[in-house]
Amino acid sequence: MSLKKTYYIETFGCQMNKNDSELMALSMLEHGFEPAEDLEHAEIALFNTCSVREHAENRVISRIRSHRKKTRGHDRVTVVAGCMAQRIGTELIESGIADMVVGPYQSPEIGRLIVSHFMDRSRDRFLSQDTDDLSPRINLRLSAIRDAPPWHRWVTITHGCDNNCSYCIVPLVRGRLISFKSATILEYIRHLAANGIREITLLGQNVNQYGADSSDLPFHKLLEAAAGIEGIERMNFLTSHPKDFSVDILLVIRDHPNISRSIHLPLQSGSDRVLGLMSRGYTRSQYLSLVEQIRNRLPSHSLSTDIIVGFPGETESEFEQTLAAAEQIRFDDAYTYAYSQRRGTPAYSMAESITREEKVGRLKRLIALQRSISRRKLDEKIDRVEEAIIERLSRKSSEEVMGRTFLNHVVITPGTKQDIGKRVKVRIQGVRGTALQGTRIA
Ligand code: SAH
Ligand code: SF4
Ligand code: F3S
Repeated sequence: MSLKKTYYIETFGCQMNKNDSELMALSMLEHGFEPAEDLEHAEIALFNTCSVREHAENRVISRIRSHRKKTRGHDRVTVVAGCMAQRIGTELIESGIADMVVGPYQSPEIGRLIVSHFMDRSRDRFLSQDTDDLSPRINLRLSAIRDAPPWHRWVTITHGCDNNCSYCIVPLVRGRLISFKSATILEYIRHLAANGIREITLLGQNVNQYGADSSDLPFHKLLEAAAGIEGIERMNFLTSHPKDFSVDILLVIRDHPNISRSIHLPLQSGSDRVLGLMSRGYTRSQYLSLVEQIRNRLPSHSLSTDIIVGFPGETESEFEQTLAAAEQIRFDDAYTYAYSQRRGTPAYSMAESITREEKVGRLKRLIALQRSISRRKLDEKIDRVEEAIIERLSRKSSEEVMGRTFLNHVVITPGTKQDIGKRVKVRIQGVRGTALQGTRIA
């Protein structure tokens, strides 16, 4: 059955959701749906959601409410997909926020599920919450999809997470670690490269654990094989976990110039006691010695991180240990968050000892420190030559383009539409806001 209805997808949350949204778009197109210009005009509004923090959920709920208010009286359907659908799908239906919910397990099947919803709107509103029913994330037909940049594809190599960090909802909504077969992943990347894709990002909540649930290749072997595929000019991977990041990975990066030199390694806290309560599986000094190994083996690299402030029981002096670690390590970039209590996680029962204002106060201090470090690290790039892949025209000038360097910094340089997707060399001349600016030398 084919329905000539239009759809629009709004995506929240992490890169896994971005990949799922591309798969959702593919499924919608293959079931005869057509893309709408914007959310307001779409007959089917799809929200691919995130549950990682309460704030993320509240934001999307108010977005959906305002969308429904605006389109009231028209024949519109609201579908909520992703992690929030998995977590509170039933409540979303009962409170009239969603007409249909699809958990992340089967989001790539969304076209088929929506068709069945239209066949009988009174049934099939609570779909695919079954965690044994995982649909694959690798689909050769994604190479041709128009909703994605013409040179880049996400490649999800694992689904779920076996780590159970005490604050984290992800294992609850995405389930156990499942590694997709390396042969399928590599065949997919070969297919993408043969179809003009030049940049790949391997995705997983902890990519370093790839293969731990099967007898497949370890992560560094998969990375090596993927980076060896002809036509792939840049290979990125997200996210690494300090307890599983091995020297083998660094050696593979060192020997493959087409692997990005930007490593995302969440620290979460600089206090050993808090790290223990978080069940992260490493100490501050183990993290520091990993950073030392990275410095020794990769002369040119950048390091980014995630940090949570105000974890239950975090004292002022423990928070200061996080500040001290950030100062000592000098991350290029840090994604900083105020702790958010999530029902069902081990930390849920731990009493919070500081007020919301104190938490936000700590966050502000950390952000101010990191901002000045990031700025100084950008300044250090002046006069260096950086390689970048151009992503799009600059928003400010029609004669400039925006790209991303191999150290994952945004760079602005003269160029045209024809440069999009190209790998270029740029001599850095200055810093504009949080972006580098320079001239092309090749
Ligand atoms: N798998 C990745 C990313 C998980 S979610 C990893 O392990 O790093 C992204 C980030 O959100 C986490 O690294 C953490 O810093 C933050 N986060 C997760 N749960 C949170 C919570 N309950 N409150 C505040 N921040 C949280
Ligand atoms: Fe969450 Fe930890 Fe898994 Fe990351 S590694 S998704 S923080 S449980
Ligand atoms: Fe959010 Fe789900 Fe990703 S909770 S961070 S969208 S795995």
